[in-house]
Amino acid sequence: MNPSTPYRCAVIGNPIAHSLSPDIHHAFAQALDLPVQYERILCTADDFDNRVAEFFAQGGRGLNITVPFKERAFTLSQKHCQPRAQLAGAVNTLWVADQQLHGDNTDGEGLVVDLQRLGKELKGQRVLLIGAGGAARGVALPLLAAGAQSLKIINRSPERAHQLLQQLEQQLTQQPLGSQPSLASGGLQDTAGQWDVVINATSASLDNDRPEHGTISYASQALAYDMVYGAKPTAFMQTAQQQGAAQCVDGLGMLVEQAASSFAIWFGQRPPTTAIRAQLRQQLFSSS
Ligand code: ATR
Repeated sequence: MNPSTPYRCAVIGNPIAHSLSPDIHHAFAQALDLPVQYERILCTADDFDNRVAEFFAQGGRGLNITVPFKERAFTLSQKHCQPRAQLAGAVNTLWVADQQLHGDNTDGEGLVVDLQRLGKELKGQRVLLIGAGGAARGVALPLLAAGAQSLKIINRSPERAHQLLQQLEQQLTQQPLGSQPSLASGGLQDTAGQWDVVINATSASLDNDRPEHGTISYASQALAYDMVYGAKPTAFMQTAQQQGAAQCVDGLGMLVEQAASSFAIWFGQRPPTTAIRAQLRQQLFSSS
């Protein structure tokens, strides 16, 4: 490549103006001394497929997909997408290899890497996952692949949690893990047991709300994680602290790590994340 021609990457969605992805990826590129130009692409449902095709036809290196097009991106790349994206039914990372469109979902890996950063290796851990929508689907398989000993999915509509559990079981039949995790599902009140890691994957925090779950018995050193992030602790995090979670964390770290996983797919190197995470945290505080 001509060193004066940057690699083109972008995030596509609607709305897109507030996406932090360009800041994050430019910080990664700078840290690794790679020439990357990362832009935002606003598009409508009608022109999504064309914009994706055009981006890669013009030599684009990698595309991130955000709301509301992750399912559409999955459909486009279904023939060449990773099992974790199959279970999620959603793709947040696209690239072209051997003239084929490939897709992956890096949300779960982003969460797992962030949990490791926070001192939570998942091996042997008991995990309670709250929610059964797109966000939960994206992380369920990676949590198990990282070694969780048990996973219970609870949701406001229990049947949706049950459906996700069944799909997870089916996926594990096709591609078994080394160990056999114990799996369960239920409604928001089905919190019985002791939990090492509790993850809020519902969208309630986006509405400044919390899932009305039953009392959670947190094990010692347990961690409560909200996949949503903000300047202040979410209502879920506040409840978790009252109910005895040793650590309560929001999803800013996951946002940065899922981006690092996309970057690693496109460029073959995982970038450092500490400085950009601290910078974004600072920006959140100053904007509040
Ligand atoms: P996303 O892609 O953000 O996961 P989604 O697929 O619409 O969005 O799923 C939203 C999730 O948040 C669902 O698990 C939803 O519960 P239901 O399946 O019962 O609808 C959950 N959710 C949203 N608001 C909630 C609230 N106030 N309390 C509890 N759960 C909530």
